[in-house]
Amino acid sequence: MSIRISLLALFIAGIINFNCSQNGNNMEMLADFVADVSNHSYSKPEEVIVTHLDLDIEVDFENKMITGKASYQIDNKSGSIEMYLDIRQMEIEKVTLGEDETETAFAVGPEPDSEYLGRPLKIAIDADTKQVNIYYSTKPEAAALQWLAPEQTEGKVHPFLFTQSQAILARTWVPCQDAPGIRYTYNATVKVPKELMAVMSAGNPTEKNAEGIYKFVMAQPIPSYLMALAVGDIVFKPIGDRTGVYAEPAMIDTAVREFSEMEDMLLSAEKLYGAYRWDRYDVIVLPPSFPFGGMENPRLTFATPTVIAGDRSLVSLIAHELAHSWSGNLVTNATWDDFWLNEGFTVYFERRIMEEIHDKPYTDMLSMAGYQDLQDEIKRQGENSDDTKLKLNLSDRDPDDGMTNIAYEKGSLFVTHIENVVGREKLDAFLKTYFNKFAFKSMTTEKFIEYLEKELIAGDDSLAKRINLASWVYSPGIPEDHPVRESKRFEFVEENLAKWLDGTKSHQLSTQYWSTHEWLHFLRNMPDTITEERLVDLDSTFNFTASGNAEILCIWFQHTIKHNYTASFDSLEHFLMKVGRRKFLEPLYKELVKSEEGKKRAESIYAKARPNYHSVSTNTLDEILGWE
Ligand code: BES
Ligand code: ZN
Repeated sequence: MSIRISLLALFIAGIINFNCSQNGNNMEMLADFVADVSNHSYSKPEEVIVTHLDLDIEVDFENKMITGKASYQIDNKSGSIEMYLDIRQMEIEKVTLGEDETETAFAVGPEPDSEYLGRPLKIAIDADTKQVNIYYSTKPEAAALQWLAPEQTEGKVHPFLFTQSQAILARTWVPCQDAPGIRYTYNATVKVPKELMAVMSAGNPTEKNAEGIYKFVMAQPIPSYLMALAVGDIVFKPIGDRTGVYAEPAMIDTAVREFSEMEDMLLSAEKLYGAYRWDRYDVIVLPPSFPFGGMENPRLTFATPTVIAGDRSLVSLIAHELAHSWSGNLVTNATWDDFWLNEGFTVYFERRIMEEIHDKPYTDMLSMAGYQDLQDEIKRQGENSDDTKLKLNLSDRDPDDGMTNIAYEKGSLFVTHIENVVGREKLDAFLKTYFNKFAFKSMTTEKFIEYLEKELIAGDDSLAKRINLASWVYSPGIPEDHPVRESKRFEFVEENLAKWLDGTKSHQLSTQYWSTHEWLHFLRNMPDTITEERLVDLDSTFNFTASGNAEILCIWFQHTIKHNYTASFDSLEHFLMKVGRRKFLEPLYKELVKSEEGKKRAESIYAKARPNYHSVSTNTLDEILGWE
């Protein structure tokens, strides 16, 4: 106890000290290899940085708790006598130093103003300390974790747990230096109930073992946001030599069929930008409450089952997460202000993979749809909004605020713009070298610009002018010289949409060869002025209300809510009860709360569905529904 009190004093002194030294020489001197993490992390990597984690934990479904020990190897380059980790929604039991585990003092910082940051864990160390061991347990409400009851799974027999660490939720399940610019390797031992299997963003088992103890090695250094764990009744089936799928038994064959192109995707990706550096590439299909479409956890992408449409029409999502193995996981945004470096390049890369797997007309549809997403986003935010710049400023804000279509679609439009200016061959050579040169390093927007100027522009003023870097990166909106997206297949859809709007019946339209993307384009561009009767006409021909395609359902329901097409409402409620993917929930609840009647329905559905949603989704939805 007395150690703790004295450390509290040390802690307060430390905070004052921290504020003074932030702009000091120390920071500038080291700025080259340690990004400034102070935006969203309490860690001070310029003083003490973690290099390796040994995690030894037990997963307790009954108490919704992870308990155990996180042992870090550290590099105390400043000879400091204290170090900092980020923690949130967890209890720290004790901290020890070295292999012989001498107990040491620690202090947890005061309640923060912004809940999302959590608190600093300050640990007393010696100048020559090499290892720090933290004994901890998570709280049931830990934001990264979603504990699912058996009813929330496909099999309905066993519980399930998964993590979602990006952007700064890793600190809710492992004490860590939670900043994307800090990388470390990890080993883990995870104990789970015997009938379940554990998988991580690491080398994975392919079968259950009798003890329920699983060992993992992640030999390449990764940032904390890529630490991931899933536990459940999980089985594995291979697709190719280096690719395969994990899922619940009831889902595995469907998933294998849907993702049969994975091995080809991997080969295409390597052909474009160089060797895959993570050994295997597998995907786990999670229960439907997973809040994202996909998460690029290294070696093991986490994916929503809503990507499975039965016809492989949505698998560009897998190409996207795979592409992150280069853009994001290999060369990583140094701070969340540089998020576009992760997502913009990945969307560009994703579409290059799809062009290899399919063809240009197919990929043009994806790019066109993305361009429409971008226009919608800019309309929503206003074209002068700072949040429409590629380089963001998220200080004093939850990094989740920066996760918009700007990073994805303005980012990829910018890369396409560079391609148009220098030619595909040059851009590809540049990117390949870029991923190699900065492999396992972090990248700031400024460092990227510097590198691009040196390697690609190389003093050519007219080229520099045409690329127009500064305007793309630091100005809001879309620069005038942006690439023009075109899609012949969508033009055909638009002709049919025009006919339909002129009164042609649904069954007379030329839709027989349409893919999901054509349908999405049709539905998305239906004007608000249509009547309920026209929705009935469409539904009787194409049966959207009963579609098994979540992307189609999401757009369709927005129309049916708007026009009070009540025949779809049972299906809508079923969807909202089952699916936890924020991208679908957000527009649907937003549409519902626009009318009095809809608001009542939204509230009653949300009250029932909320326990099925991950904190990432409830954070957004609570606001829409005024639920606090
Ligand atoms: N890394 C993102 C997901 C993410 C971003 C999680 C920011 C937390 C914070 C992932 O790669 C992604 O972009 N997923 C998309 C799908 C993709 C095809 C655009 C999604 O989940 O919708
Ligand atoms: Zn992504």
